[in-house]
Amino acid sequence: MLSRRKVLAAAIGLASVDVRAERGSNGDGSKPVRETPLKAGYWGTQFYDEKELQQLSEVHSHRQPFRWYGPGDQPPGKVAAFEKAWAERMQTRFALAVTSGTAALQTALAALQIGPGDEVILPAWTWHSCFNAIVLAGALPVFAEIDESFNIDPADIETKITPQTKVIMVAHLQGNPCDMDRIMALANKHGLRVLEDCAQSVGASYKGRPLGSIGHIGIYSLQLNKTITAGEGGAVVTQDPLLFERAARFHDLGALRPLHEKVVGQPRLDWFVAPQFRMNEFSGGVLLAQLAKLDSIVASVRNNARYVYEGIRDLPDLRLRHLPDPAGELGSAVFLGFKNKEQCERYMQAMSKENVPAHLPAGSVKLPVLRHIEQKVTVHPAWPSFNTERGKSIRYGEGCCPRTLDILSRFAGVSLDPKFTRRETADIVAAIRKVYPSIAGT
Ligand SMILES: Cc1ncc(COP(=O)(O)O)c(C=O)c1O
Repeated sequence: MLSRRKVLAAAIGLASVDVRAERGSNGDGSKPVRETPLKAGYWGTQFYDEKELQQLSEVHSHRQPFRWYGPGDQPPGKVAAFEKAWAERMQTRFALAVTSGTAALQTALAALQIGPGDEVILPAWTWHSCFNAIVLAGALPVFAEIDESFNIDPADIETKITPQTKVIMVAHLQGNPCDMDRIMALANKHGLRVLEDCAQSVGASYKGRPLGSIGHIGIYSLQLNKTITAGEGGAVVTQDPLLFERAARFHDLGALRPLHEKVVGQPRLDWFVAPQFRMNEFSGGVLLAQLAKLDSIVASVRNNARYVYEGIRDLPDLRLRHLPDPAGELGSAVFLGFKNKEQCERYMQAMSKENVPAHLPAGSVKLPVLRHIEQKVTVHPAWPSFNTERGKSIRYGEGCCPRTLDILSRFAGVSLDPKFTRRETADIVAAIRKVYPSIAGT
């Protein structure tokens, strides 16, 4: 009689790998699932072809690398076209292209008029840029714990709200959407704004809505490690014309150019002092070509992740990373949880022997325990963030995020790639099936 595992494996075409998995765990002399280590690549650049080249060549031949003007009768239009297409894809009224995700965060906080005396709540596990953008605005970062989604824990946000809190900065990390229903309910209850950082989840959605379109303002990164890329780049989206106008002015020295004036309709603001984060036309062209491929890249990686989830679904004691909306997740990696750090380390060692390496959550940083953050180091000693009574009294370090540190020590994942073949995703299933049950069951 066929075991339940074999029936499921046969149903999804895994019969042969499952037989190999039956041979027992590596270390008792069995053959590893793969002969060479499986490695996910950078996503967007694997899809570069003549479309990106064509865009670059047009900017080159028209000698129009700058978005606002240049030689020739026709004005440049790549970045403008990218902004229009991005707003359509993300289902927002407005989109602004900028030089990076970090610049996008600074622009979004400026659009929300965040400054000295204000507090912004952010997850203890996210990228440097989130903390830095808050401090660079002169505001005070306040950490909240993550939950088993590796994203900010809505329950912990509520405990961190003070009369000075203005914004909840949520980050949809490693392709996984945050629990936006709970976060928006909380923000509405307390009259707060929500900034969605979608840098690591470009193309993902929550209950059918593109990430970035749910909060008051959203940002994306288009750097090499992201879903699509021009090497560097970023974007800001919002439904609110006032936020858009302040963002557009902030990214361009305080000016509102005719194109953006037309987009906002009636300007509401005057000049103010601001930096310069304009995207160039080469990047705009490459991103136009990449954006046309976004949905197929997302479909491929999701498909691969679903194949893995299906292939391991019946394993006893299975504990997946919490997915607030499994249908909207990108599937950047399949993370499994353990009772403790020691089990997790054994899992990583065993997977490595199978040549299907699993790693701890990656791509973000345990910010509160970084030395310069714990010591509140800024470019100038009189920086406003930490010079108020509240700024002086706030404590970072391990003590402010014990749950985050614990969760991050006992989950490990295998990264996925939109170009993985069926053989490669089947190898992931075979390796997990071979090593996970004996470790998680102890
Ligand atoms: C969550 C998050 N926010 C913001 C950024 C900043 O993006 P960029 O590198 O384009 O400045 C990153 C980059 O990795 C990120 O992971």
